[in-house]
Amino acid sequence: MQLFWLSLLPLGALANQAHSGQFANDTQALLWGPYRPNLYFGLRPRVPQSLMTGLMWFGTQDYSSISQTRHACETGDGLDSYSWTEYDAREGGVQVLKDSKNNYEITTEFLKVPGGEHGGSWAARIKGKPIDPKLRAQISLVFYAGMEGLGGLDMDTEEAETGVEGPIEFTGASPELDEFRLRFEDGPNNDFVEDGPHHADFTSRIGKTHYVGLRMQPGNLWQAKETILQNIIKQASDALGSYKDSPAGPPDPSFLLQLTDDVYHGSNLYAVQKLYRGEFSFDVFYESGNAKLSSATLDSGVPALVESYHQRFQNTIPIPPNYNPSKTEALESFSKSITANLLGGIGYFYGTSIVDKGFAHEWDQEDEFDFSRSTSGEDDDEAEEKGARLAEPRALLTATPSRSFFPRGFYWDEGFHLMHIGQWDIDLSLEILKDWINLIDADGWVAREQILGEEARSRVPAEFQTQVPNFANPPTLMMAITDFIARLKARGDGPSDADLGMDTGMQVPLSDAPAGAPGNQHLDSPELGMAYLKSIYGPLKRHYDWFRRTQRGQIKQYARKSRSRTEAYRWRGRSQMHVLTSGMDDYPRGPPHAGELHLDLMSWMGYFTKTMKDVAGFIGETDDEASFVEIEKAIVQNLDDLHWSEEEQMYCDANVDDDEESYHVCHKGYLSLFPVMLSLLPADSPHVGAILDMIRDPDHLWSPYGIRSLSLSHPEFGQGEDYWKGPIWMPMNYLTLGALYKTYAAQDGPYRAQAQEIYTELRKNIIDNIFKEYERTGYVWEQYDALDGHGRRSHPFTGWTSLASLILAEKY
Ligand SMILES: *[C@@H]1O[C@H](CO)[C@@H](O)[C@H](O)[C@H]1NC(C)=O
Repeated sequence: MQLFWLSLLPLGALANQAHSGQFANDTQALLWGPYRPNLYFGLRPRVPQSLMTGLMWFGTQDYSSISQTRHACETGDGLDSYSWTEYDAREGGVQVLKDSKNNYEITTEFLKVPGGEHGGSWAARIKGKPIDPKLRAQISLVFYAGMEGLGGLDMDTEEAETGVEGPIEFTGASPELDEFRLRFEDGPNNDFVEDGPHHADFTSRIGKTHYVGLRMQPGNLWQAKETILQNIIKQASDALGSYKDSPAGPPDPSFLLQLTDDVYHGSNLYAVQKLYRGEFSFDVFYESGNAKLSSATLDSGVPALVESYHQRFQNTIPIPPNYNPSKTEALESFSKSITANLLGGIGYFYGTSIVDKGFAHEWDQEDEFDFSRSTSGEDDDEAEEKGARLAEPRALLTATPSRSFFPRGFYWDEGFHLMHIGQWDIDLSLEILKDWINLIDADGWVAREQILGEEARSRVPAEFQTQVPNFANPPTLMMAITDFIARLKARGDGPSDADLGMDTGMQVPLSDAPAGAPGNQHLDSPELGMAYLKSIYGPLKRHYDWFRRTQRGQIKQYARKSRSRTEAYRWRGRSQMHVLTSGMDDYPRGPPHAGELHLDLMSWMGYFTKTMKDVAGFIGETDDEASFVEIEKAIVQNLDDLHWSEEEQMYCDANVDDDEESYHVCHKGYLSLFPVMLSLLPADSPHVGAILDMIRDPDHLWSPYGIRSLSLSHPEFGQGEDYWKGPIWMPMNYLTLGALYKTYAAQDGPYRAQAQEIYTELRKNIIDNIFKEYERTGYVWEQYDALDGHGRRSHPFTGWTSLASLILAEKY
């Protein structure tokens, strides 16, 4: 083995001692994970270019199933269901994949083993059993590992042209991972196809592990599947030719659909293939430094992690015993599973993105505001920057909305993800938040969709790939920060605001994993929590100022009357039919106009300001705090002055007509709820009642399945793309429930009893429907039908739809 670059490594790094126990720190603990959540099972470290692994499988019951090899989570594969049933970012987890087209239920177990200084070791067990034992069950699995960037990987086991008997081992090293071994071992009771036509021709190959070593261009490793399959298929079709006139028919596919057992010179990608009949199991060990793992590691480690997941679940998001007692067990397994798949859906992405700095719609060109801070008049540079181009590569650890359909970072969704992740593991949520904060550029902008690298781009239609630096997205990350501060306060000065608010008997205090448990450092240590907030305050403020500068709306130009002369907002980057930047893509709005004012953005800015006020107050930036108090007050006043329609008795967008007169654009739906959803209205505001009435009215937003996005009575209900024109979305229901729970049902006011009633009914409606649909279909969905509650569009959608777990546990 020649690892010429080993001299680059620090000497101390080679003296690596394996030991059990905990990871030294979070960089270590979070280094490895199934950070390729777009794959059914793809492990990689949180390192830009390093070891990439993936699992693929196909049935060998016929020759055609290989054309539907399972690898990336594709809806078209038609798996009955797949989800992590347990997953914790520090320990590992268990995933169950039901593939009835191949008659297999496959389980992937992943166990992290601390030790050494390079992120520790891990073990994976891949096992399967026939779904219907009476039917034929034959399968082939391929696990591959490829090295990108600086580093090397070599096959250590002696090559054998008919395949390897017994374990197969590779060694490798890289600057970040140091030296490691990768070993594959069969489980004890595997069975193979040994009979059938021509089996005598293949006796030397049956039951062995097949392999190939290939050389891939750097940056192309994500396309490993195609290259590996070509190796199998070419070999099989050559061999098949010699049987074409055989009266016995062709050999069993498992005899021919095999890797070639070659290693090409300079290989950086290795594939290891297993072929089985019936129940099977094999283990993959990644041993860092001197670590030694064995199947016993998994035999004892996996049951322990399943139990520890259960304990943590009980401590953080338990099912209340009085919620549908006859279903407690099923609800618990549902809630554990959608939480695990949210956590197991966290990905690490690295690469370039496409940015167009010059793009603007005509209604945005009239802006009197300068998007960029630069005042240096570098016109030539600006002109050069026009047009879509590749930006510098960036790295991001992020949860993903849907492993099958949206395997990448979305700003709009991420704040909701972090509410859930933070409930589970606050340090992990802060680690992810920090990666997002690091994306805030010098102007204060963050692209709303993070499509980093070729692999991520390959899943996005070209027209949606380009990001524009004056386009925003709802600043949902602020929810994670508000939540963190509430927890810090709860730890520090006794009960939090949320705890104090509620005396209705529905109250469950904010609870966390017990002090000292992994993932709680930022709460256990007030200094660490404080240092974190201080470290993000600068970029947050830049981000906030960017919103206020670039998304400002016009007041005086249209003789609008409002107490504050500054606070009004408008989404940039809308088109005739869509306001993608608002996150509610096709929700009805007025015609595009430079004089539009958007209620939801105004409300988000109120929420953003409140968060900034909280952070500034917490870290002692008192001057800033005072100015945020003023802005918040101005926004709340202007909500009424600019957005409340006395005539319609609702909050609305505002627009400008042909006579340059301002008028309200009112469409009953989610948009109308924002001042309540974000708790901007005081509990005694006279406008709260009208909003609650609209929510509770079955002719408008109320359904037995949750709150609809658009009123049933609206002429556009269910029309066009029907994306945000009726269907029921989890995040808006979650926000509404949270606002009722913490504010309107909690505080004294004329609408308190009504708010309590709506809270209780809505919570039950939304949970019962999502759970029912989960049992019916095997999945949670992107949205739910406004008329029959059926799951719609992408699935599994264990991004924000997983908030059902928090609603069950009443954690808002
Ligand atoms: C985490 O631990 C590793 C190895 O002990 C060390 O090199 C690294 O600096 C630590 N990182 C932090 C952020 O403390």
